[in-house]
Amino acid sequence: MSRYVAAIDQGTTSTRAMIFDHAGTVIAVDQREHNQIFPRAGWVEHDPVEIWENTRAVVAGALAKGDLTAADIAAVGITNQRETTVVWDRATGEPVYNAIVWQDTRTDRIAEELGRLGGGQQRYRERTGLPLATYFSGPKIKWILDNVEGVRERAEAGELAFGTMDSWILWNMTGGTDGGVHGTDPTNASRTLLMDLDTLKWDAEIAAEMGVPMSMLPEIYSSSEVYGSVRARGALAGVPIAGILGDQQAATFGQACLTPGEAKNTYGTGNFVLLNTGTDKVLSSNGLLTTVCYKLGDAKPVYALEGAIAVTGSLVQWLRDNLGMIGSAAEIEEHARSVDDNGGAYFVPAFSGLFAPYWRSDARGAIVGLTRFVNKGHLARAVLEATAFQTREVIEAMNADSGVALTSLKVDGGMVVNELLMQFQADILGVEVIRPVVAETTALGAAYAAGLAVGYWAGEDAIRTNWAEDKRWQPNLDEARREREFRNWKKAVTKTFDWVE
Ligand code: G3P
Repeated sequence: MSRYVAAIDQGTTSTRAMIFDHAGTVIAVDQREHNQIFPRAGWVEHDPVEIWENTRAVVAGALAKGDLTAADIAAVGITNQRETTVVWDRATGEPVYNAIVWQDTRTDRIAEELGRLGGGQQRYRERTGLPLATYFSGPKIKWILDNVEGVRERAEAGELAFGTMDSWILWNMTGGTDGGVHGTDPTNASRTLLMDLDTLKWDAEIAAEMGVPMSMLPEIYSSSEVYGSVRARGALAGVPIAGILGDQQAATFGQACLTPGEAKNTYGTGNFVLLNTGTDKVLSSNGLLTTVCYKLGDAKPVYALEGAIAVTGSLVQWLRDNLGMIGSAAEIEEHARSVDDNGGAYFVPAFSGLFAPYWRSDARGAIVGLTRFVNKGHLARAVLEATAFQTREVIEAMNADSGVALTSLKVDGGMVVNELLMQFQADILGVEVIRPVVAETTALGAAYAAGLAVGYWAGEDAIRTNWAEDKRWQPNLDEARREREFRNWKKAVTKTFDWVE
């Protein structure tokens, strides 16, 4: 058996390849950012060709850094930004349009029109676990077919393929136009608004209502099985591709949230809280999503309740890239520490409308509570606090849906290095916040899915054994202040509604 397992993490801002050993320790990493394309207000695109080139480069880079070859790698797993939609030509391998990113809001009219067929925003909730919102893939496919010249005819003739980023990478890695595997897993498929959550199959009726030909859709495999091998000329030539998980489900898996009732929060571009609900599909009455958490081979699928927050880490990037207020993301903590509190300012980053628990595509960002007293430090603090307040909102929804109050929260992702944010998160939630040693659990989760499929790890217990705590934060804010702050936040949120007619 080869010594290591590899994972490709195709995220919203960058693509990473990571190599892990048996203990789940990181052996090598390589990473490349890709361009964020904003053609108009509310539109966000990626170039799928650039992403595929970056994928090849980081795989080669990680192997080189670890002084490894394909022979050292037992299997490779793929994890990815979910919902982001690519449509490409099966014969040429060329995308017909840029990838439409999950944050993009151009499909608000499409979502509304579908809702008018009956049932409004909840039209597909029962079958798919999701509200009709701009976030998901189905309406994005429809937009491409409706708006890019000649594409609908080509789709109907069976010439085009749809995929989320996992499918795009899998197809290219396994040979592309030369016999590439057109597949996905149920965690990614459960984010399209096109998959039935019980059968884990595409729903022909919904696809017809969205005008999406079934021939475009990838085959839904499990999250952990051999889909194919890397084609002859790649750096990982011959290595089996054996795991696919959407990035948030991968993080849940990597965090060893394998028992019903266990939850994690990933602090990335956005924040995503997932609560494992076991083999029961729990439908939310409080604005959360029901999603597939993972499906290992022939085993029954495990479901999750999810609180998806669109903008958290990307607000820090926005401060850096659009305002130039900080030189690097790490500087935000320094500025925030220069003051004792937010000075009365609240920043609601409704840049993609508001996701959970509100699902309002008409919302836009706002900073409220400003006086002449407020300085850069207060704003930096308001930016960090926005992440913690939004997290509390989705955790309250989760407690209401499940009837059980969360007693601690496992965290991971890029922002968890920010100690001030972690303390504030514990303070505003009133529960302990726990960070594991490997905070990049997304790639680790995909590596586990792939490694389990080829017998590199014997079973899920290995994941539990490998998980280790790094640090925990205790809540340290009196209740009156905690509740006052949270009330102010909720008032600030109401100021963002009704900005788009
Ligand atoms: O649903 C979107 C999510 O998968 C994106 O995650 O970490 O790339 O921001 P991330």
